[in-house]
Amino acid sequence: MQGFVIEGGKRLSGEVSVCGAKNAALPILAACVLTRSEVRLKNCPQLSDVFSAFKILSCLGCKCSFSDGEARIDSGVIESEYIPDKLMRLMRSSALYLGACLGRTGRCTLSYPGGCELGPRPIDLHLLALEKMGADISEEHGVIECSCPAGLHGAGISLSFPSVGATENIMLAAVCAAGETVIYNSAREPEIVDLARFLRKCGADISGEGSSVIRIKGVKELHGCTYEIMPDRIVAATYLCAAALTGGELTVRNTRPEDNRAVTDVLIETGLDIFSFDDKTYINAARPLKSVGRIRTMPYPGFPTDAQPLVSAVLTRAKGTSIIVENIFENRYKHNPELVRMGANIKTEGKVAVIEGVPMLFGTRIMAGDLRAGAALLIAALSAEGISELGNIEYIDRGYESIEKVFSKLGANIKRTVI
Ligand code: UD1
Repeated sequence: MQGFVIEGGKRLSGEVSVCGAKNAALPILAACVLTRSEVRLKNCPQLSDVFSAFKILSCLGCKCSFSDGEARIDSGVIESEYIPDKLMRLMRSSALYLGACLGRTGRCTLSYPGGCELGPRPIDLHLLALEKMGADISEEHGVIECSCPAGLHGAGISLSFPSVGATENIMLAAVCAAGETVIYNSAREPEIVDLARFLRKCGADISGEGSSVIRIKGVKELHGCTYEIMPDRIVAATYLCAAALTGGELTVRNTRPEDNRAVTDVLIETGLDIFSFDDKTYINAARPLKSVGRIRTMPYPGFPTDAQPLVSAVLTRAKGTSIIVENIFENRYKHNPELVRMGANIKTEGKVAVIEGVPMLFGTRIMAGDLRAGAALLIAALSAEGISELGNIEYIDRGYESIEKVFSKLGANIKRTVI
């Protein structure tokens, strides 16, 4: 098995730049199905999930290439509306090809998406909304068949929860539908804003992104464009948390500090110095960490569930008791038993985790259970005394570009090897 061997206890220092956001790139890549001329995406991260999106796009007939940090997608001709199960299982965002394919060709056959197992991840809100927009949807043995012989039409859609994926899927279906679609209680995440900006650059008529009501007036078709993907706020949070745990001092470039406020506010509460200027975030973790009050994960602008494992890792070393309440996903504490193996004191019950800070973590053999759980264990290992062996790192590669090289440059002792 591929793994990281990490000799912990090295203080991270220096400058690091954040790559483009995975969770913005994936819906934008799905949106490329709707464009009839070439799209160029700058700052597109080179991640296994992005290459999974390339596989899906290629299977639909799009031409994809990557050079010098720029992805190029030509969707001039769509040859197929069928996505095989093995491609659908590669990631959660494969569900977005429903809205994109329906919007472009009026048909789509696919199966349920894969992705990290964070508890049940249904797509009922996606399907209900598409039906309201005129799609006929049938399902047999896990295969979902969708068509809209008369074309999609706009609709008023109230989401019972501000789902990120459902909001994106509706946006993709609505941009070329007949008439106006209004999404009430839409997700407000910065990645939704990035998708709306991209679609607008391709000719879509969208307003209200970033608020909880998004309005989309359907246009006849979309054209290609050149677009720069926003920086990844969870990768930025990972670097900040790594500095916090190792007592480091980092300048993190290509950040949007306002997108990360919920995370930086918690880190400041632990006693760290964090300053932001322009697109840089500076962190100095010279002093010992202290525990924080309750952290509840919430839809944006609340505390992001994706940063919960990372901040939990930091709090294992913070003096006192911290309480985490995970409200978004049922099974998002896979890092906790592994952190406990490293010497952390964490009690987990249902959606609540109680973390009693300990002075030191110790290196041992640990396993990544999903993408962010893996990243949390990695930064914990960077700060631990002794050697850690971290397995299942293919999860980490889904969301981070050669993370071992980044941390090595900042002073860590980490190697990718067979363990
Ligand atoms: C996206 C992000 C993921 C992040 C999550 C929440 C991507 C590729 N992934 O995932 O990193 O953790 O937002 O910020 O952008 N739900 C339903 N029915 C649905 C859809 C969702 O019940 O039809 C529930 C989910 O089970 C979950 C909650 O809603 O409990 C949030 O899910 P959602 O916001 O849709 O997250 P994703 O789009 O899957």
